[in-house]
Amino acid sequence: MKVQLVLNGKRTTVDMPPLMRLIDALRGPLGLTGTKEGCGEGECGSCTVLLDDEPVNACLVAIGQCEGRTVVTVEGLGAEDGLSPVQQCLVDHGGAQCGICSPGVLISAEALLRRTSYPTTKQIRDAISGNLCRCTGYERIVQSVAEAAKKHREVDETAWGAEEIARKGGSL
Ligand code: FES
Ligand code: FES
Repeated sequence: MKVQLVLNGKRTTVDMPPLMRLIDALRGPLGLTGTKEGCGEGECGSCTVLLDDEPVNACLVAIGQCEGRTVVTVEGLGAEDGLSPVQQCLVDHGGAQCGICSPGVLISAEALLRRTSYPTTKQIRDAISGNLCRCTGYERIVQSVAEAAKKHREVDETAWGAEEIARKGGSL
């Protein structure tokens, strides 16, 4: 079956059995090995990807379900000139240690930060609650996401400031 989707911002057509698991399609024919498989049954969150901006477990989604939809994997998060804010914060604040949970954590955090740049600590905890981590005790992950949210707000405010300057004809 031919499946057309937008994968990490690129229109992609794949020819695969429709019931092939998305994680197998990503890590196999599509060559995107950043998404990790842990439990393979929807419990650990290490395979989390965005499907139409919602975090899903790629081990529980069939490639056929992705027809006409948008998929973002951890490879799709980085900025052109380096790491995304949430990736950089995870590095800077010790939110990634062995790294096996990190791709899933990054995707869950990204989903949250696409919804709001002002997440509460509870919202951050809820957002990553499906991602098991054996190393960090979660506190550093929460701190990393909070710092990334702060960076998102700075970007938002800069963009807002630039718009205001333009709207007011060059000066605030
Ligand atoms: Fe998919 Fe664990 S591998 S949730
Ligand atoms: Fe090792 Fe999370 S950093 S499992």
